[in-house]
Amino acid sequence: MTDSAPIAIFDSGIGGLTVLAALQARLPRERFVYLGDTARLPYGTKSTETVTRYTLRAAQVLSSFAPKLLVVACNTASAAALPELGRSLAVPVLGVIEPGARTAVRATRGRVGVIGTESTIASGAYPRALRALRPSLEILLQPCPLFVPLAEEGWFDHPVTREVARIYLEPLVSAGIDTLVLGCTHYPLLATAIRAVVGEGVTLVDSAQAVAEDVAVQVRSPAGAGGGEGSARILVTDAAPRFLRLARFILGDRVASLEAVDLPA
Ligand code: DGL
Repeated sequence: MTDSAPIAIFDSGIGGLTVLAALQARLPRERFVYLGDTARLPYGTKSTETVTRYTLRAAQVLSSFAPKLLVVACNTASAAALPELGRSLAVPVLGVIEPGARTAVRATRGRVGVIGTESTIASGAYPRALRALRPSLEILLQPCPLFVPLAEEGWFDHPVTREVARIYLEPLVSAGIDTLVLGCTHYPLLATAIRAVVGEGVTLVDSAQAVAEDVAVQVRSPAGAGGGEGSARILVTDAAPRFLRLARFILGDRVASLEAVDLPA
């Protein structure tokens, strides 16, 4: 591993580019290699065993780039596979759940809502991370399985999305949450629709910023330091046109193309 080694980022699909965007803004001179397992998305409806197996294979692909750090941008993969990844990889691994929990605990007056995929919510990873930081917290959990396909469809603030958001989130608002953790990479894309339901009084927590700060500490690379140009390669396991459209929506037209790779069997 050298200082010019890239930072690897893994997500089940394209949503993790929201984390890459935060990392590029914080560390503009670093090299990034991103892998989205678009062929197997969604992870959020699958079992822990399957998500762990897919994540370990993706980590193998990313390891071939000799990264100095692996960021698991996917909440579902972080919740399922982080301990196993830590045991089986030589590089340091960072997930998104602990940084998101830390941000939420700083923001809340005591009642936190957490939304995520079915698998993330069922894992109990967020309540564990939140209560480790503040045992007295009241925590309300809500899986939002329809949010991922709505985001993938580009229906970020569509009337249907607002209605789905109302059905999922009104119980949390009625229960008096003051902070809502967006525990899935896709959910920041739906922030306007989510905000319309929860109102201005609820703090929305997107862990991307917190992860970017943790990565900056880990690679000891203050913004602007180093002589690198900064770059990002974006690999996907299925390069269907809809994924390129979504990538361009998140990162802008500088995304020329997505590189197709496969995971080892
Ligand atoms: N990237 C996943 C996450 O953050 C959501 C998409 C999926 O279900 O694969 O949980």
